[in-house]
Amino acid sequence: MKINQDTVLQGQKVTLVPYTAAHVPRYHEWMQSEELQRLTASEPLSLEQEYEMQHSWREDTDSEHLKCSLREGGSECTFIVLDAARWPGQAEESCMVGDVNLFLTNTEDPTLGEVEIMIAEPSYRGRGFGKEATLMMMSYGVRSLGITKFEAKIGQENEASICMFKKLHFEEVAVNSIFQEVTLRLDISDQERRWLLEQTNHVEEKSYTELKQPAGVLET
Ligand SMILES: CC(C)(COP(=O)(O)OP(=O)(O)OC[C@H]1O[C@@H](n2cnc3c(N)ncnc32)[C@H](O)[C@@H]1OP(=O)(O)O)[C@@H](O)C(=O)NCCC(=O)NCCS
Repeated sequence: MKINQDTVLQGQKVTLVPYTAAHVPRYHEWMQSEELQRLTASEPLSLEQEYEMQHSWREDTDSEHLKCSLREGGSECTFIVLDAARWPGQAEESCMVGDVNLFLTNTEDPTLGEVEIMIAEPSYRGRGFGKEATLMMMSYGVRSLGITKFEAKIGQENEASICMFKKLHFEEVAVNSIFQEVTLRLDISDQERRWLLEQTNHVEEKSYTELKQPAGVLET
């Protein structure tokens, strides 16, 4: 999705940056983990396929989906989650801790976003990174993509994820016993919108290109 290709969202613990080819090797390494494949219901891809996915995501034109919403498969907005204490500053690839996605898959309803979050680095789990990244993505979805309801599809046994989404006001609306998956949902009423914006009022939106410039370059 091109809309967020220059967007950086800086929070307290996490910084969200657009998914670029430079992130692919580390991302691919994470997805070799059988635990992560199971928890995120993902199929392992080859490194080449991962580059293709990243490339096709980048080429996906927002206007096509957001304006006429007839494209099959919908759109996807992906950010890589970085440790805000380390980036900007240290090598970006070494600061990657996970990713967060918003899928606009319902071509009849472009205001419905499906959220997915992964804190891939085990040492970063249980420290509030997942919660902040999810809230930041939801707030971006509401403010910039016109999303008014969210869904999350989670494996029935994934207690951590189900607990997290319930803390973020999601409610269970369906259970798929074949896929052993629950669907949680949150409709953004005026009250929920106020709550979400309040939770994320510390977040700053910046330009990725500018943040990546070495110090001094912008002043010339
Ligand atoms: C699920 C996941 C995203 C949660 O992110 P996290 O950074 O570990 O969670 P946080 O520290 O932000 O915790 C947020 C809330 O989730 C709940 N939670 C987190 N880990 C939990 C656990 N192991 N058991 C129960 N609840 C848990 C807590 O209630 C916490 O609420 P609190 O803020 O009141 O303490 C993360 O653990 C993860 O990515 N795991 C592997 C991949 C995965 O399962 N992705 C989800 C696929 S749908």
